[in-house]
Amino acid sequence: MTVSIFIGTSVDGFIARPNGDLDFLPAGGGEPHGYNEFMASVDALVIGRKTFETVLAFPVWPYGEKRVVVLSSRPVDLSAVRGGVVEQMGGPPAEIVAKLAAGGAHHLYVDGGVTIQRFLRAGLIQRLIITRVPLLIGEGIPLFGTLPRDLRLRHVATQHYPSGLVKSEYHVAA
Ligand SMILES: NC(=O)c1ccc[n+]([C@@H]2O[C@H](COP(=O)([O-])OP(=O)(O)OC[C@H]3O[C@@H](n4cnc5c(N)ncnc54)[C@H](OP(=O)(O)O)[C@@H]3O)[C@@H](O)[C@H]2O)c1
Repeated sequence: MTVSIFIGTSVDGFIARPNGDLDFLPAGGGEPHGYNEFMASVDALVIGRKTFETVLAFPVWPYGEKRVVVLSSRPVDLSAVRGGVVEQMGGPPAEIVAKLAAGGAHHLYVDGGVTIQRFLRAGLIQRLIITRVPLLIGEGIPLFGTLPRDLRLRHVATQHYPSGLVKSEYHVAA
């Protein structure tokens, strides 16, 4: 099983404004920087409840027919999702990964700040693909948080794009 993140941040490391607004990210995901190719390699998305609420407000469900697992500690109403494949899970990240692996998933895409932080703390993420958008927003929802110990990363590649996007891929060192 491989667990990845693929996320856009401000240069000061925020994934959303304090109120959850994503207006600082380029419209439509910005110029192509590998998101579609990454998504094609993913068997299932694992997203936090707050990210779910954000994407539910989009005019179109953004994940097509890809399997989406919404994490929450309480029941979430999934009935508003039209045309998607959605289910709910909760509990320790290791149990969630084990359940999805047992169901045949090989590559998971974990998304949402708190959610990513919990999976990182549990040592379950192997690949981080982070695209920095060229601006500072000063405050917001952070991508990273506290860790029980340092997590050493291996830099795999960095690409920059004419619009100023800078995409870096890191693997968590063994
Ligand atoms: N920049 C980007 O590319 C990007 C990508 C994704 C999201 N975002 C933005 O980030 C914001 C959301 O991030 P966030 O950090 O606030 O929240 P989040 O990670 O999306 O959601 C956090 C919630 O997920 C649930 N959860 C997470 N792990 C769980 C587990 N193991 N078991 C049970 N429940 C679990 C909990 O829900 P309950 O409280 O219901 O228990 C928790 O409060 C949104 O504004 C979204 O638009 C930006």
